[in-house]
Amino acid sequence: MRTALHLTTAAWALLSITTAQAQDVAAGKAAFAQCAACHSIDGTNGAGPSLQGVDGRKVGSFPGFRYSRAMKATAYNWDAAKLEAYIANPQAAIPGNVMPFSGLPDAKQRADLVAYLQSLK
Ligand code: HEC
Repeated sequence: MRTALHLTTAAWALLSITTAQAQDVAAGKAAFAQCAACHSIDGTNGAGPSLQGVDGRKVGSFPGFRYSRAMKATAYNWDAAKLEAYIANPQAAIPGNVMPFSGLPDAKQRADLVAYLQSLK
C-alpha cells in the first residue's frame, strides 16, 4: 500500500515536470514573435540566420548567412546558458555582433524562449 502511494506521488511529480516544460516551450513560442521578423525556424535565412537546430551548433555557422566578423570569430557552440546570455544582452555576450536587438530584460521570458529554441530540431 505504502509503495503504491509512493509510486503515485513519483508519477505525479514526473507528470507535472513534463507539463511545466511543455508550458515553457509554448510560452517561449509566443515570446519568439519578437524574433520572428528576422529569424525563421525552417532553414530559410532572412535579416537574421535561421534558428532551426540552433541548440548545439557552432555560433555563426548556419549555411548561406553572412555573419559579422565578431559572430564568425566566436568559437563556442550554442547551449542553454550561452543562448540565455546572448538573448539577455547580445552586445555584452558577443561584443561587435550586429544583431539589431538590445536584449530581453524578463528572465522568465528568456528561460521560456531558450526552452523553445532548444525544441527546434
Ligand atoms: C531586427 C532583426 C533581428 C531580431 C529582431 C532578432 N535578431 Fe537574432 N540575429 C539577427 C542578426 C542580423 C544576427 C546575426 C548577427 C551577426 O552576424 O553579428 C542574429 C543572430 C542571432 C543568433 C545567432 C545565430 C547563429 O547562427 O549563431 C541567435 C541565437 C539569435 N540571433 C537569436 C535571436 C532571438 C532569440 C531573438 C528574439 C528575442 C532575436 N534573435 C531577434 C537579427 C535579429
